[in-house]
Amino acid sequence: MPERHWIEELASRAGETVSVRGWVVTTRSSGKIAFVVVRDGTGMLQAVLSKKDVSADVWDAFGKLTQETSLEVTGVARAEPRAPGGVELQASDLRIIGPSVDFPITPKEHGIAFLFENRHVWLRSKQQVAIARVRNEVIQAIRDFFYERHFTLVDTPILTGSIGEHAGTLFAVDYFDLGKAYLAQTGQLYVEAAAAALGKVYCFGPTFRAEKSKTRRHLTEFWMVEPEVAWNDSAANMRLQEDFVSYIVGRCLERRKNDLAELGRDLAPLERVQPPFHRISYTDAVAKLKSLGGDMEWGRDLGGDDETTLAKQYDRPVFVYNYPKAVKAFYMKENPDDPRTVLNNDCLAPEGYGEIIGGSQREDDYEKLRARIKAEGLPEEAYSWYLDLRKYGTFVHAGFGLGVERTVAWICGIPHIREAIAFPRTLYRLWP
Ligand code: 4AD
Ligand code: MG
Repeated sequence: MPERHWIEELASRAGETVSVRGWVVTTRSSGKIAFVVVRDGTGMLQAVLSKKDVSADVWDAFGKLTQETSLEVTGVARAEPRAPGGVELQASDLRIIGPSVDFPITPKEHGIAFLFENRHVWLRSKQQVAIARVRNEVIQAIRDFFYERHFTLVDTPILTGSIGEHAGTLFAVDYFDLGKAYLAQTGQLYVEAAAAALGKVYCFGPTFRAEKSKTRRHLTEFWMVEPEVAWNDSAANMRLQEDFVSYIVGRCLERRKNDLAELGRDLAPLERVQPPFHRISYTDAVAKLKSLGGDMEWGRDLGGDDETTLAKQYDRPVFVYNYPKAVKAFYMKENPDDPRTVLNNDCLAPEGYGEIIGGSQREDDYEKLRARIKAEGLPEEAYSWYLDLRKYGTFVHAGFGLGVERTVAWICGIPHIREAIAFPRTLYRLWP
């Protein structure tokens, strides 16, 4: 029995007899010579069969191959510079493992609703495979960035007792005799506690928002990475963000060029993603938007369109900093130079992708934070442990959250974030 190999290993095995298992992409035949292109997740391989060299059973089996039939094909690998991966297989044996009748995703165009109904098999398509690989690279880059800088990963709970961000977007579940638990909107409050123990920390996991919005930027379940650093102020927080985003993009350019090419991604805008990013205060951003003809007023949060317009003015990501207190979360530190605002920032990606990061310096003054919690109508008891962090050795600290799907969608250049995760959850989608 020849050894079974992944397609990606075959380039170094020219001349050897090998077996490959995978799924049929396409077939064609001239009557005497037949070709089947097989994919196994690591690459594509063309196998060639000559009628005169294979048994009648094998030739018959070839005739039964349809799109996505699973099979095992055996033969001699040979160098073929024109073939994808640089090798071709001269097949001596071919065995069907599982037939595939009427595979739903054909090379013709399908509507987006149909594709999402069939997401479980659509995932096999070339572009979806490319997106999955870019996502994997983004996540690995995130972990490597923090590991190299001696951050400690702290896993925060998904079932939580206090509201992390907005009361309006909570998923609540019954929690035994303790009333309601909420699916975490953020791990931030917990990494703030961990930062006092470990200095530089981050959490990374799924987060949940009962967003009733149908935009191309919102999911109800998304992955967020949230670093938190003791003694960082807002300026240091932004410097960390620009290094971080540049590192992630750089890694994808270095290691995922083929996948980005598969997606038809223009690399020039990604190559410009280098520190320093642009910085503009919220107040100046409002003035700029007005001068560009928008009807923006000081005090309003930036909407998706405002973000797109603003980001278009720049050749790389831009930080918008010091938003009005009233439109931001309770935990952000009041700006001592203008108490109407807070020491926060959003990071807007170029090319219309909008906010990929929200970050801030945290309120470290016990009384101010307590007043803010009260003013927002949040139950003080639920935050007593969070207030304790300001009671036992309070410390300047800052952090941010980067949304993985928005980042992946931007790097891939795909229009909607729902393709940036294998099984997206939105207002209208809980299946498959
Ligand atoms: O700006 P947000 O709400 O910030 C926080 O949650 C803070 N606790 C982060 C922190 O300071 N530790 O969310 C951060 C990022 C956004 O910039 C966006 O990329 C992503 O999370 N995000 C979403 N992604 C997809 N779907 C949604 N509904 C999202 N909401 C936020
Ligand atoms: Mg935000």
